[in-house]
Parts: sequence; structure tokens; C-alpha cells
Amino acid sequence: MNKTELLNKLLLEMNKDTSLPLHEANLVFGEGNADADVLFIGEAPGFYEDRDGRPFVGRAGKLLDKLIEDVGWKRNNVYITNIVKRRPPENRDPLPGEIAAYSPYLMKQIEIIDPKIIATLGRFAMNYFIPAAKISRDQGKILWWKNKLLIPLYHPAAALRSTRFSDDLRLNFAKLPIALDRFEEFLNDKNSRKPIDEKKGEEENEQKTLF
Ligand code: URA
Repeated sequence: MNKTELLNKLLLEMNKDTSLPLHEANLVFGEGNADADVLFIGEAPGFYEDRDGRPFVGRAGKLLDKLIEDVGWKRNNVYITNIVKRRPPENRDPLPGEIAAYSPYLMKQIEIIDPKIIATLGRFAMNYFIPAAKISRDQGKILWWKNKLLIPLYHPAAALRSTRFSDDLRLNFAKLPIALDRFEEFLNDKNSRKPIDEKKGEEENEQKTLF
């Protein structure tokens, strides 16, 4: 089976899984190129995403589209999804149990797509991968998660509310194509480095300082 077929199979499994929370809402599985080098991961669907069954189609989504285009990419060449794949009532924050329930499906999606870069949008998606990270401190850093670059970004919805967040998001978004171009170099560098200094925290060891 190719990646598209594997994702379709996963979607069918999710649809059948009645144990998943938020069942009254529509499933927003994710969309894009199954072979994408870059995977964007947001928090959870909102009103418009729930209505359309597609991720990032509301105001934050329009900004995400613009940011993608401004770095010379197309929305349908990347892949976009969320950690929680159904809308929490009134757009409340996703609960730890909801994040945990959807986690095996997100992991499977990542395994199938196997992107080079995971760009998280907002603190929930960032903390899913790096629980100790702080969005104001760590957004824009180039981190490793397994053999992928993990780049935490502000959520586009936050950028719609504040010029400072919007400036930071734009600035850090511009790192994505550079990180992708230099991916092999980063990976070789990572693999040639001495194993982690046990006395230092994981983040300190893994963090790239090239930008
Ligand atoms: N916010 C998110 O985190 N995800 C979406 O799909 C839409 C808005």
C-alpha cells in the first residue's frame, strides 16, 4: 500500500473507533500530500473545521495558507493535521485525556507520512512532543524529535491577536525552507555528534543553534 492508501485505511479505522472522545463532533483527520516533507500540527478543529471536516480552514487557516505561500510552498504540498481530531465544545482547550486518546492515531499518521520537519502550531502541539517546552521561550528553535526536525511555532490564531506574535511567527516560518534545504547536513551533524551529555537536559542537548 502507498502512503495515501495507508492514510485512508487509518481514517476508516478512526471513523469506526467509538471509544474516541468528542464523538458528537465531526472527524477532522488532516489533509495534504501524503509524501510531504513538512507536517504542520495544530491543536484541535474549530467551528469551520468541524463544519467542513478539514483542518485550518477558518481565519487562522487563511493566515497559515498565506504563510505557506509566502515561503514559496503550496498548501497541498505539505500535510496539515491536529493533535486532537474533533472539535472540543466551545473551542475549549483539549483535555489531557482527549490528547492521549487521539495520540495513537497521530503517531500512526506521522509514521506513514514520515516527514523531515514537524512544525507545531501553538503550545498544545509543542507540549505534546516536548512537555517541558515553553512557547514564548522555545518557538522558532530547531529541535530534534526522533530523526525529524521539530520546529515549534506560535499558533496562527495567536498571531491574529497580536503583532508581536505575528512578527515572530512570520520570522520563524521563514526558517522552515532553510531547515528543509539543510536537513541532510543537520542529520549528519546530529549522527556524528557524541551521544548526549547525560548531565544536561534533553532539550539542551538536542537544540540546534544554527539560526
Ligand atoms: N486551530 C487549530 O489548532 N486547528 C485547526 O484545524 C483550526 C484552528
